[in-house]
Amino acid sequence: MSTSTKGAGAVAAAFGASVLASAGLAIVYIAGGSPPIEGALLLVALGGIGAGLVLWAKRFLPVGDDVQEREPLPSTPDERARASDSFGAGADLVARRRLLVRLAAAALGALGIAALFPIRSLGRAPGGALFHTRWRAGVRAVDASGTPVQAASITTGTVVTVFPEGHVGAADSQTLLIGLGPGVYRPVAGREDWAPEGVVGYSKICTHVGCPVGLYQPSEHLLFCPCHQSAFDVLAGARPVAGPAARPLPQLPLTIDAAGYVVARGDFPEPVGPGFWDRGRD
Ligand code: FES
Repeated sequence: MSTSTKGAGAVAAAFGASVLASAGLAIVYIAGGSPPIEGALLLVALGGIGAGLVLWAKRFLPVGDDVQEREPLPSTPDERARASDSFGAGADLVARRRLLVRLAAAALGALGIAALFPIRSLGRAPGGALFHTRWRAGVRAVDASGTPVQAASITTGTVVTVFPEGHVGAADSQTLLIGLGPGVYRPVAGREDWAPEGVVGYSKICTHVGCPVGLYQPSEHLLFCPCHQSAFDVLAGARPVAGPAARPLPQLPLTIDAAGYVVARGDFPEPVGPGFWDRGRD
């Protein structure tokens, strides 16, 4: 077996191994995935392409300078015979090269297709879910046990975590009801009737990086986030007055129904928690 044939075999083996490894990668991923096996297959897929290209360069690409001597014309019979042999070998080389090019393309294509599968791991697009919570007009506020909250139970200084009725535990909807007492509420323009009988509601999700804002200091009317010590002024629309948070806690519009229960007038007017809408504020 000639050296060039052996070289072509080695290049073909490298590209072939890459194709098989990429196919195996796709199969393992579809079957549920295994990071160690996927990593090993990716190593073979990439390594096969790399080894194939290196072998190709070493075995088939010309090295050094080529100098063409001026030969006397016409050629001797011996030169013509060698040229004829060379043409034959060249045809064989061209055929092998075509095969190797196709195998190289197959290896790269298989790896590219296998690389598309992880896109499935991104999950479903969130759509508009990041802009809305479970609060709707007319939905009663319930505590963690699912019991509707009477407005009369939210006395001055009281803080209760509530959820929309039917959605206890909904992380994006958790809300703090705070009893401010009569005559204390200083509404943001347009929110004059959002805090009936001095009961105000704010999202419990910190607008910095989403920790629960759970510490209330009634004497200062401040809500504190324990994660990075942001403080929110409850009397000023829960705007941040200290710490890294840059956006006020969204306020939930409230009313009280005929039975005395706290009821939402609608969803939060803006997205809760931190998010892409905060970019550029810091
Ligand atoms: S998450 Fe609240 S201050 Fe950082």
